[in-house]
Amino acid sequence: MNDSSAALSNLMHEERRFEPPAELADAANVTEEAYERADADPEGFWAEQAERLDWGQKWERVLDWDDPPFAKWFVGGTLNAAVNCVDRHVDAGHGDRVAIHWVGEPEDDTRDLTYAQLRDEVCRAANALTELGVRKGDRVAIYMPMLPETAIAMLACARLGAPHTVVFGGFSADALASRVVDCGASVVITADGGYRRGAPSALKPAVDEAVAKAADQGQQVETVLVVRRTGQDVDWNEDRDVWWHEAVDQQDSGHEAELHDAEHPLYVMYTSGTTGKPKGILHTTGGYLVGTSWTHWAVFDLKPETDVYWCTADVGWVTGHSYLVYGPLANGATQVMYEGTPDSPHKGRWWEIVEKYGVTIFYTAPTAIRTFMKWGDDVPAKFDLSSIRVLGSVGEPINPEAYIWYRETIGAGKVPVVDTWWQTETGQIMISPLPGVTHGKPGSAMKALPGVAADVVDDHGESVPNGSGGYLVLQRPWPAMLRTLWGDDERFKETYWSRYADKGFYFAGDGAKKDEDGDIWLLGRVDDVMNVSGHRLSTTEIESALVSHAKVAEAAVVGAADDTTGQAVCAFVILRESATDDEGAAPDDLIKELRDHVAKEIGAIAKPRQIMIVPELPKTRSGKIMRRLLKDVAEHREVGDVTTLADSTVMDLIKKKEDAGSSDED
Ligand code: WTA
Repeated sequence: MNDSSAALSNLMHEERRFEPPAELADAANVTEEAYERADADPEGFWAEQAERLDWGQKWERVLDWDDPPFAKWFVGGTLNAAVNCVDRHVDAGHGDRVAIHWVGEPEDDTRDLTYAQLRDEVCRAANALTELGVRKGDRVAIYMPMLPETAIAMLACARLGAPHTVVFGGFSADALASRVVDCGASVVITADGGYRRGAPSALKPAVDEAVAKAADQGQQVETVLVVRRTGQDVDWNEDRDVWWHEAVDQQDSGHEAELHDAEHPLYVMYTSGTTGKPKGILHTTGGYLVGTSWTHWAVFDLKPETDVYWCTADVGWVTGHSYLVYGPLANGATQVMYEGTPDSPHKGRWWEIVEKYGVTIFYTAPTAIRTFMKWGDDVPAKFDLSSIRVLGSVGEPINPEAYIWYRETIGAGKVPVVDTWWQTETGQIMISPLPGVTHGKPGSAMKALPGVAADVVDDHGESVPNGSGGYLVLQRPWPAMLRTLWGDDERFKETYWSRYADKGFYFAGDGAKKDEDGDIWLLGRVDDVMNVSGHRLSTTEIESALVSHAKVAEAAVVGAADDTTGQAVCAFVILRESATDDEGAAPDDLIKELRDHVAKEIGAIAKPRQIMIVPELPKTRSGKIMRRLLKDVAEHREVGDVTTLADSTVMDLIKKKEDAGSSDED
C-alpha cells in the first residue's frame, strides 16, 4: 500500500462535525459504555444480546470457533425465527400494534397488518406449505414484488425450517433458474405481477420460463404458489400451479411451531462474485437473528412503541432480509413497506408516505439520495418530514455532499445520519455511528459497532496508521456472519479467508481509510480503486468531488487503461436540471470547469482525463453503478453484458452520446 497512503491521506479534508441531538442522546438505547464492555468480553456481550430473543433450549456455548472459518454461534440453543418475529409480540400483549403499513404503488391501495394478523397469516401460510409437501430442510424460492405476502412467505418458511432463497423480482428468468438449480428448490412462491412505474409488471411468465430451464438442468419444481396481485392473465399449469388465496386463506390460523437448532439454515441469498457464478451466502438462525435484531435496535435507536420505521430496500436484497423482515420484526417494530418506484405517480411519493405515516426512522441508499438531489429541493419541501429523527444510509459510500443534503433537506438540518457499512456476507451492520453516541462526519461510517472488530490493514495484514488507507478486514467472528457458500466450502474459504489466512481475518473486498482520528471511511470495492501514475485513487472520492460541484447531480468514475499512467480517470456525469438549457445541453466550458474543480478538490493527480456528460448511469436493480460497462465505453470497447442492468437501454444512450462526441479528452 506504500504509495497509496500518501495519496489517500491527502484526499479527505472534511471538517464538518455534528453532535448527537441531546434529546436522542439522553434516551439512547445504547451508550458509550457498550464499546468497552463489548471489547472486554465480546462473547459475553453477544450472549447478553441473545437474551433479547425467546429461546427454547438455551445455548451451551456462545461461539464455537474451533474449526475456522466455520463458525457456530449459540451452540445447542434452539429457537424459531418466526415465533421471535411475530408470535412473541402477540403473546406480550402487542397484537394490536401495526407490524406493516403496506403501501401499494397505485394510490390509496394500502393495507395495515397488526402483529396478531401477521401471526395468523404466517400460520396459515405455514399450514399451506406443509399441505403442499414442504418439510424442514427443503428449499423454497421466493420471487415476489414488495407485498405483505412476501414477508409472510419468508416467515412461514422460517417457521417450518425450510430455508428460503429470495430472488429479486427484477431478475431475469435465467437468474431465477440458476438459483433454483443451485440450491435445489422444489417450490417457487411468486405473484402474477406487481405494480412498478404506474403499470402492472408481470412475474409469472419469468417463473414459467425459469421452471422449464431448471428442469432442463435436472431440478424439478413441483409447486408454484401464486399470489394474485395485479389480476393479469397468466398461463396456468394445473399440475403445478396453485393460487395463494386458494391454498392459504382457508387454512387454520393455529400452527404449532417447531424449535430449530440455532445453526439451522435460515436462508440462502445469492450475490455476485468475481466469477460468473453467483455465490449462495448461507445464513443460519440464532446468530443471524441476534445480530440483526440487536443492530437494528442499536443503530436506529428503535423505540418499538412509538417509532415508525421505513427501509426502502427491496426484500430481494440482503437489506430487505435483515432490516425489513428479520431485524425490525424481531424487535416488534411498526414499519412501512412500499411496493413501487419513488416517482410514481409523482416525484414526491416517498415524502408523501413519510408524512402520511409519520415515519420517524428512514433508511435508504445514497443512489436514491442523489436522485432526489437531482430532482430538486422543492419536491421534499412540499411535505411535512418533521417526524423523522434518524436517517440511515447503506449500500455504497455516501459522499459528503449527499450526506449533507440528506441531513439538511430530509433531516431539517438536525437529524443524525447513520452511514451503515455491511454486506450480504456479514448479515448485520458492522460499521456505523450510533446516533446517540457518535458525532457525525459527512462521508464516514466511523467505527465498528460494539462487539465487532474491524480494521484497515496493508497487504501483509498490518494495521495501517491513522491517516492512511488499505483494506478493510474483520478480525473476529460475529453472530450474523455467513456460515459458508451454499454447497461450496472451498470457495467460501478462498474468497474471504485466504488473503489473511495467517491472521485469521475476514477480507471484505473493500478499500478503506482511517482518518486522523482513526475513524473509518469506506472507499468502495478494491476493484474500484484506480492506480494512476502509481498513485492509488478511489473512484468514490473523485465522484464525490464532482458531485460537490453545484452543476453536478451524479457522477461515476472509472479507471481506464492508459499507456502512460497505467490507468486514467474517466468520469461520467449527470448534470442537475438547473445546469442545462431548455434542450438539456450543457454550457461549452463546463467540462473544463469540472476538471479544474476536481483538481482543486483533490489535486491535479485526480483530474479526469475525460468527462462525458450523460443522461443516465448504468445501474443494477439494487442501484449499484456498473462501472465495468462504463469502463468498456472509456476504453472504446464493445460494451459487455448488460442483462443485470435495471434499464438496459441506458448504455445505448451513453454510447450515442459518445458517438456524438459529447466528451472532452486531453
Ligand atoms: C458496499 C449491502 C460504503 C461495500 C448491505 C460492500 C458500502 C458492498 C456501504 C456490499 C457503506 C455497503 N459505505 N460502502 N455504508 N454499505 N457498501 O452485499 O462495497 O449488496 O462490500 O450489501 O456494498 O453490498 P451488498
